[in-house]
Amino acid sequence: PGPVVYEAEDAAITAGVVESNHTGFTGRGFVNYNNAVGSAVEWTVTAAKAGPATVELRYANGTTANRAMNVSVNGTVVSPALAFAGTGAWTNWQTKTITVNLVAGSNKIKAVATTANGGPNVDKVTV
Ligand code: GCU
Ligand code: CA
Repeated sequence: PGPVVYEAEDAAITAGVVESNHTGFTGRGFVNYNNAVGSAVEWTVTAAKAGPATVELRYANGTTANRAMNVSVNGTVVSPALAFAGTGAWTNWQTKTITVNLVAGSNKIKAVATTANGGPNVDKVTV
């Protein structure tokens, strides 16, 4: 099977809201993280087998400040302060790709804002 899309608007959201006022998203919208440390989105994703998997996060950041986030897998931070640099406009979406180890079956992937600006707007992950 090829990569599977998991929309942010269908994930578990902590301190954020689903919005659709900036075009270019997929699905019904994107998550606007509250502009605060700790705002987060957690996806539950399925892996056919244990081992490394490519995780692509699609986001927009209409500011010039890096909106770094800690990315964790099953409760362990695997990508601390991953950079989400400005994309030029809230309607310009870019992807950030990391490789993480998953277990077979269900996995939790969480992206937590580490700065007072919160996270970027997040559209989806593809795993
Ligand atoms: C603007 C923008 C939001 C964004 C916010 C931010 O309000 O419309 O989509 O989330 O800036 O700075 O985080
Ligand atoms: Ca925001």
